[in-house]
Amino acid sequence: MAETNIAERIKYLTDQINHHNYLYYVMAQPQISDYEFDMLLEELTRVEMEHPELALPDSPTQRVGGFITKEFASFEHKIPMLSLGNTYSEEELRDFDTRVRKVAGNNVQYVCELKFDGVSISLNYRNGLLFRALTRGDGVRGDDVTTNVKTIRSIPLKLQGNSVPDEIEVRGEIFMPRNAFDALNEERVEIGETPFANPRNSTAGTLKMQDSAEVARRRLENYCYFLAGDNLTFATHAESLAALKSWGFRISDQTRVCNSMDEVWQFILEAGKKRETLPYDIDGVVIKVNSLAQQQALGFTAKSPRWAIAYKYKAERVATLLLSIDYQVGRTGTVTPVANLQPVKLAGTIVKRASLHNADIIEKLDVRIGDSVYVEKGGEIIPKIVGVEIENRDLFSQPVAFITHCPECGTALIRNPGEAAWYCPNEDDCPPQIKGKLEHFISRRAMNIESLGEGKVEMLYESGLVRNVADLYGLNNEKLIGLTKVITSDDQKEKKISIREKSAENILKGVESSKNVPFERVLYALGIRYVGETVAKKLARHFGSIEKLQSAGTDELLMAEEIGSKIAASIIDYFANPKHREIIGRLRIAGLEFENRNEGSANLSDKLSGKVFVVSGVFSRSRDDIKSLIEAHGGKNAGSVSKNTSYVLAGENMGPEKRKKAEQLHVPIISEDDFNAMIA
Ligand code: IVH
Repeated sequence: MAETNIAERIKYLTDQINHHNYLYYVMAQPQISDYEFDMLLEELTRVEMEHPELALPDSPTQRVGGFITKEFASFEHKIPMLSLGNTYSEEELRDFDTRVRKVAGNNVQYVCELKFDGVSISLNYRNGLLFRALTRGDGVRGDDVTTNVKTIRSIPLKLQGNSVPDEIEVRGEIFMPRNAFDALNEERVEIGETPFANPRNSTAGTLKMQDSAEVARRRLENYCYFLAGDNLTFATHAESLAALKSWGFRISDQTRVCNSMDEVWQFILEAGKKRETLPYDIDGVVIKVNSLAQQQALGFTAKSPRWAIAYKYKAERVATLLLSIDYQVGRTGTVTPVANLQPVKLAGTIVKRASLHNADIIEKLDVRIGDSVYVEKGGEIIPKIVGVEIENRDLFSQPVAFITHCPECGTALIRNPGEAAWYCPNEDDCPPQIKGKLEHFISRRAMNIESLGEGKVEMLYESGLVRNVADLYGLNNEKLIGLTKVITSDDQKEKKISIREKSAENILKGVESSKNVPFERVLYALGIRYVGETVAKKLARHFGSIEKLQSAGTDELLMAEEIGSKIAASIIDYFANPKHREIIGRLRIAGLEFENRNEGSANLSDKLSGKVFVVSGVFSRSRDDIKSLIEAHGGKNAGSVSKNTSYVLAGENMGPEKRKKAEQLHVPIISEDDFNAMIA
């Protein structure tokens, strides 16, 4: 294809994908199937790889991420990011209205919006393109999180329409919907990480992640609620919102223009009722004067605008009795205390249990069995105990003695220095840990043995047939057919399930096809503490095989991208255990993949043999491709610059820290052209 045709095709694909992305993520009205969308994106990715110089600044391929930010630069906000005055009472809200009318006169309209409970963001657009996204920071300066924000599908990379101003400043809230939050926490608990306390914290954590590909996977969303810029001619806030909407921003349809405080109050009551059913957290309603001229007349205090106020919902709180405490043991052995409460109605649901998180929290609250405790449901989904009614306490009650031994297997619990959680170290013989490991192993993102779901793992474990993941590969028809288990469902009905010929056949088929699962997923499936999907991928790419990983010392592990001392120690611990080595040996005999397949690019030459590269920045091809090339020519990749580094391969915008370190250690910094010459 001639160059102009390719450029035209790239433009066409970019526009099409951005348009369909908008229909899907902003309007929630998709017009093409996911498959058709993926095909367009696949084509664009391929053509851009062949002609990187023709990629457009609003290319949707940026949304999948893949850029690493080691340190976030900070910039001053064009307009300071202020906070809002807030209130919990109707009376204070009416006082606000009186203050407004004193300045603005009696003809006042308000715009009511939801107060999204996330992280505020400032988006700067220049010539219609997203130029920079800054966090609030201290209100005056914020951190540049543009690369990560570009992965959020509802934030336009390029504005729509013909009447787009040269430069605008748009503000909004980024948040993690509840279902994405739950899934993320489930995954974190699975790999032994501490779960996030609430969606707001997980959003803040996600926005500051170094790997934008991980940000892209976490499915953040946003709503915009503020516009500023020179030469804008809108008379009201509602008009500004309409303009934002026409340029492609996501504006909440739960927004209403109100002509009186009574109407505002009505909105607050309605939103309060809807709150539980929204797919994201809100903590109140924001009330803004609609007329921009009136806003200007009202002005600002040092901290907040006088033309807006936040009405915050009180966290709903009830008192109930703490009946007992259960201790749950997870897959990685972490022991979580759970309070059993006298059932009580709270924010529309009956609460029977509440998490007590860990021993420190129990001690801090000094909560005791038999106490009357306050249970609250704030932004968090799981209710929590926030206090104790000490006056009503039984005179003879005793502080809770956190268990010292595992409730499941009796092993003495241990606690690592600096960690809040106690855990059971008996990882290979403690029933919930074994079952948890088996469930993790067969899960979709690991070995994907779907036919073993729904209680079958439990059945295999309880029958004694399967005690570790290697036992799965010794199953056959004889062992499986006829296995039976009685399960009790939620409504207390008993149900007998048994394995018949057909389901045995399916199980064995699933086990067999798991032998084709690539090494990185097998590594994830092993369930090594702190080795989640992303880490497993990085380890597999860096070491190439389980032997190399197993024989790596701490220093070598730390050379791999994103591997810190906590993960390195956990990997060393894992392989030091002879039981784990035996299981891996058996899995290998069964035929699982324990090395990278290295399709296509293996062993092109040994020109780079003995050389260690650190790759940083943006190149004409993807960084993964460059890394594969280094390996294919016999070289090695490392994540950080050290005295062992032979070259730093620098692309555009390489990390300033890496450059500094390379200069300090006199490591040569080479360009992509130099590199091409080396392997030519
Ligand atoms: S307007 C100058 N509107 O609440 C006015 N803020 O407590 C700027 N927030 O920092 C804010 N939803 O992060 C506004 N509909 C909304 C909002 C909202 C959530 C957050 C925002 C702000 C904080 C103030």
